[in-house]
Amino acid sequence: MKGVVLSGGEGTRLRPITHTRAKQLVPVANKPVLFYGLECLKACGITDVGIVVGGTKDEIKRAVSDGSAFGLKVTYVEQEAPLGIGHAVKICRDFVKDEPFVVYLGDNLLLEGMEEALAQFRRERPHCQVLLARVPDPNRFGVATVAKGQVVKLVEKPKEPESDLALTGVYIFDKSFFVAAEEIKPSARGELEITDAIQWLVDNGFRVGFRVVDGWWKDTGRLEDLLEANRLILATLSERIEGEVSETSRIDFRVVIEAGARVVNSSIRGPALIGRDSLVADSYVGPFTSIGNNCRLENCEVEHSIIMDGSMIKNVRGRITDSLLGENCYLDRLQQKPRVYRFMLGDNSQVEVI
Ligand code: TTP
Repeated sequence: MKGVVLSGGEGTRLRPITHTRAKQLVPVANKPVLFYGLECLKACGITDVGIVVGGTKDEIKRAVSDGSAFGLKVTYVEQEAPLGIGHAVKICRDFVKDEPFVVYLGDNLLLEGMEEALAQFRRERPHCQVLLARVPDPNRFGVATVAKGQVVKLVEKPKEPESDLALTGVYIFDKSFFVAAEEIKPSARGELEITDAIQWLVDNGFRVGFRVVDGWWKDTGRLEDLLEANRLILATLSERIEGEVSETSRIDFRVVIEAGARVVNSSIRGPALIGRDSLVADSYVGPFTSIGNNCRLENCEVEHSIIMDGSMIKNVRGRITDSLLGENCYLDRLQQKPRVYRFMLGDNSQVEVI
């Protein structure tokens, strides 16, 4: 069994962060999203992994290298343009050969491992097995209709969904995927869709099984989903204080303070994570917040946010919430008159002021 992890794509919904970094490397609880997927594959014994890369290939290769840090053997497969998830898998033909394989979208997170799904696949030997999750808003996803243990229909973002079973970003295929991929045509948006390939298998008498995942599954392609993923992962951490906490500070409930970090005259209410060598002074860090490495928070309040490495926030009066700050951002209050807002924002930045 091989693994195929998709790390190309454009990440338009996460701009401006994705102007300068691969969306699969955006940190969730201070660890790139992609690493969770790689660890998940390793945990269920899949060590021969192909990673599909696109425009951000250099960055992905720098972060993952030959995969040995994860106990994996990684082969990179270059996709010349983001021509769809189906296309990204199709170009892995030479890597996969005739073996069955798991496809894992590099910006997805699955709480439960893959052991159960793989055991079911080995037992039932379908041509394809999709992992499904029950969602409250199926019209945002690819939705499966199932009957007698099989998928009978897939509809992409249906207006009137026939079920609440959304396709997650994890699939298991045998080589019949490549037969389907030759037969289907690009969709109206010009992409080779994985749902069309699976529907082709259904329509042509191949067996498509499914497993409904226990626990949560998250696609981190949008800011609100990324913040939710951060929240879900932080909630699983146990308290660990390796940095320094001053006597005038207060630490409540599941807080991780990494080595070299300092908390001075501040209150940290977990679940929260303060990265290596960061300083939090005269500040409040509230639940579900990840502060990266080498950050500096002074006289400010932050909660339910991701602050990436090297960023600095000082003297901001209102509480910062539901926010994502990229690396080395600088947020300060002007001390002199006139009292003005002054910005230097990259393309597609979003700021809401009070
Ligand atoms: P998507 O989130 O569907 O697409 P995207 O990355 O282009 O993002 P956006 O819609 O915001 O522009 O992709 C899911 C995963 O699959 C993600 O990890 C990127 C990867 N992918 C590829 O590797 N190649 C592709 O051609 C596409 C479309 C996605």
